[in-house]
Amino acid sequence: LNHLHWHLVDDQGWRIEVQAYPRLAQTGSRREATVVGHTLDRDAELDQQPHAGYYTQAEVREIIEYADQRHITIIPEIDLPGHSSALLAAYPEFACAGVSLPVDVKSHFGIFRNVLCNRDATFTFLGELISELAGLFPGRYIHIGGDEVNTHYWQQCEDCRRVMQDHDLTDMEALQAHFVRRVAEIVESNGKQAIAWDDVLSAGRLPENLTIMSWQGLARAQQALDQGHDVIMTQSPLYFDFYQSTAIDEPLAIHGHAPLRGVYTHDPSDELHQQPGRVIGAQANVWTEYIQTDQQLDYMLFPRLTALAEVLWTPPEQQDWNDFKSRLRGHMAVLNRLGVNTSHSHENPEIRFSADRQTGFCVEMQTEALQQRIHYTLDGSLPNRQSPVYSTPLQIEQQAVVHAVCIDPQTGQHSGTSRLALVGHRALHCQVTAWDSDTGRPLEASNIHNLQVLTNGVTGQGQLFQHADWAAIDNATDAELLVDLETPANVKLVSIGFDGCLKRALYSPQRVSLAGSLERCDWAELGSAEQASPDSGRFEIACEPTQCRYLRVTIENPELIYSHEREESMPAPLYLDEIIVHES
Ligand code: ACM
Ligand code: ZN
Repeated sequence: LNHLHWHLVDDQGWRIEVQAYPRLAQTGSRREATVVGHTLDRDAELDQQPHAGYYTQAEVREIIEYADQRHITIIPEIDLPGHSSALLAAYPEFACAGVSLPVDVKSHFGIFRNVLCNRDATFTFLGELISELAGLFPGRYIHIGGDEVNTHYWQQCEDCRRVMQDHDLTDMEALQAHFVRRVAEIVESNGKQAIAWDDVLSAGRLPENLTIMSWQGLARAQQALDQGHDVIMTQSPLYFDFYQSTAIDEPLAIHGHAPLRGVYTHDPSDELHQQPGRVIGAQANVWTEYIQTDQQLDYMLFPRLTALAEVLWTPPEQQDWNDFKSRLRGHMAVLNRLGVNTSHSHENPEIRFSADRQTGFCVEMQTEALQQRIHYTLDGSLPNRQSPVYSTPLQIEQQAVVHAVCIDPQTGQHSGTSRLALVGHRALHCQVTAWDSDTGRPLEASNIHNLQVLTNGVTGQGQLFQHADWAAIDNATDAELLVDLETPANVKLVSIGFDGCLKRALYSPQRVSLAGSLERCDWAELGSAEQASPDSGRFEIACEPTQCRYLRVTIENPELIYSHEREESMPAPLYLDEIIVHES
């Protein structure tokens, strides 16, 4: 681990002193408040505590020196032209026409519309800024960002339009390439080499000696290599701000799932054809907006960083997960002696299941922990040392909420708590399709590949939001679902779940109605249910037993939510949970 990529600026703060532009640090480092909880929570609160701070150049030099003594080169990142709210709060003259002024240093997290304008003055400014950085940081690279650029204001800005005309640029992507080229030239004229996030690849012609940091999948990495760029790999298993396990007591994180085993078994350059470009390394990212303390930072970094070090420095044929796992105990002991707050999430029990409409569920559990027992409960209570010890697969006929923990018999130490809520019913494994009731457009879930999670026998109740198997339907004010029961059934009760529990700006729909039919025509109305409260979980519709092969669930979802990123309201996403069908 011989480089530190230091992300020094973002919408929520500018963190480095720049002598030529003192307001960057003075104004840009200060925000008035910070969102409490997750930025996408409904009506997320702000803490009303101003937050400020930046590194002086003397402090930066001290950190460079400290790193150098350990043979670590620091790569500074100034993220351009997006993620620039803090910059524009200090120097609004570099914003496009249309950006509402004054720009504030953001209290929420996300991707905002505030971007730097393409007019010449911006590049004069960037010339002075980059020249100062180049004088400060002795390494070869300067990272110029380039990720998540919202072109909303570029499209409307006269200065940006004029640049497009003057340089024959036909679309926003070409304009972004133009921006990247100009900044990379500035970096080069200062004797350094530029790195940019792989978002800039869609942007057309780029300088060949631009190094690409690839975070958005192997196809992007391959594209960069095909275009002859050097590539640094940092794909999703290497996002150490992601959750490390699906345990319900895992602390709040941004989203995602990057378990230790996934880090260890991920070969960053596997399947890539390296020519004419080459992969020059890999890195892990840890963004700290959900990390409040050094202890929490340790928890997110270790032992995932230990695994990454081995992946990067050991030939693939010598890498072995089980061997690593047994050596990990030694690493952890050393880390703990050094006062590092390591995570043990890789030891949390994993609960797996198979489901069958006739026989019910078969549940298996396993753990990566070497000498620990899995204790479990099936009644919804949290397990302890007195709870049964798992030994062989469990048969569950109808319904159970499974909780499991690992407990070390010697020390009594508990792992995190894994949870799985199972419910057997008539529609298990039946096919579900969805469409927008107004337009007829087919609806797909944005978070998963198909809607089968709606009939897989698992409910999301009580799960950590991230790891419940919801089907997320975005941008639909009204939706219809069709459930094919395969053969006629005498339906008497249908229920459908929604996540409306104040998380991720979710609401329950206003109303759900149910119709049934034998032939997909001549629908009989079977009943409806109204929203009890915006965060109620499940809508239940009981009816006179009716012979149906098909069920049609109509969902009315008029709720709008305000997006701080887009500065406008949009339809609340629907997060659907298991459609449970019972027959008489
Ligand atoms: C990134 O994660 N936005 C590079
Ligand atoms: Zn502009």
